[in-house]
Amino acid sequence: SRAPAQCQATAQPQPVVQSAGQAAMFIVMSISQHGNACDTVREALGGLPAILRSLNLRLPDAHLSCITGIGADAWPRLFPDLPAPAGLHPFRPLNGAKHQAPATPGDLFFHIRATRTDACFELAMRLRESLGDAVEPVDEVHGFRYMDARSMVGFVDGTENPQGDEAVEATLIGDEDPAYSGGSYVIVQKYLHDMAAWNALPVAEQEKVIGRTKYDDVEMADDVKPSNSHIALNVIEDENGEEMAILRANLPFGNPSRNEYGTFFIGYARNLGTIEQMLTNMFIGRPEGNYDRLLDYSTAVTGSAFFVPAESFLTEQLGDG
Ligand code: HEM
Repeated sequence: SRAPAQCQATAQPQPVVQSAGQAAMFIVMSISQHGNACDTVREALGGLPAILRSLNLRLPDAHLSCITGIGADAWPRLFPDLPAPAGLHPFRPLNGAKHQAPATPGDLFFHIRATRTDACFELAMRLRESLGDAVEPVDEVHGFRYMDARSMVGFVDGTENPQGDEAVEATLIGDEDPAYSGGSYVIVQKYLHDMAAWNALPVAEQEKVIGRTKYDDVEMADDVKPSNSHIALNVIEDENGEEMAILRANLPFGNPSRNEYGTFFIGYARNLGTIEQMLTNMFIGRPEGNYDRLLDYSTAVTGSAFFVPAESFLTEQLGDG
């Protein structure tokens, strides 16, 4: 019943469906309040494909890509004549008995991925130039692929991500919002880890926190996997018992000299509600109080939600400089 957007030949999506990458920059910005800030932003977004084309021609092995997300408050400022995407709303903060997921500002989000840091950096710098004084920085994280796709807590991250058609089905809007088919929603959160406490936990205990083995990444059997493990709380089903998937592209980041170690969580979905249900399970608990034990070692310090329009929507609305 929910035809994936790829069947609708007109909407070319942004490159949402791909792996986390070797290097990434996650940039959140606010749009300034001054008079022509939105004109400048529209122009800069319209010019982005040309910068990407040029860099990818020069650095073909870099596989450089950039996804643009637009926040709920920014949408009517940038596209006053267009209805907002059906499911777009600001990130809803969560207040669990023990752990909180704060909402932080964000009008624009850029997810820049490549096989090399310099390509990400060059794109970010050129983009920043074109945005001029129309934006203010909110947050910027430089993520890296860590060893064999490990998260900062040392477990392989991304294993159960949907692949191929399933990833398309999970992330791209189809006929439920025809004006925005080929679009997607994204939630990002920056987490900081208490690595001293985490490393003090024996590996067998860490495995109970995640719900998989650490060395070889094998899922625990259902009868031994704790109900407050990260895996148990993030497997969710719809009313027909079908598993509801999101596509994650998390990467670790850190500043060892400052003892700062983190995970940048980024999840794409065709429906924000799927990611929100997972967050509710993690922070409030399923059932309430049975919260995700990973949060005892991880603090969410940012949280924002964005709509990721189809590439073809951006080209039609903003041109392609
Ligand atoms: C699975 C790490 C935050 C949703 C996993 C796995 C790891 C992991 C190691 C197991 C391997 C895999 O299937 O990828 C982390 C870390 C986080 C974090 C370090 C931040 C501290 C989140 C958040 C969500 C989420 C905020 C949802 C809003 C999921 C889902 C799975 C998963 C859906 C796959 C479950 C399954 O099908 O088995 N995560 N995660 N994660 N995580 Fe997270």
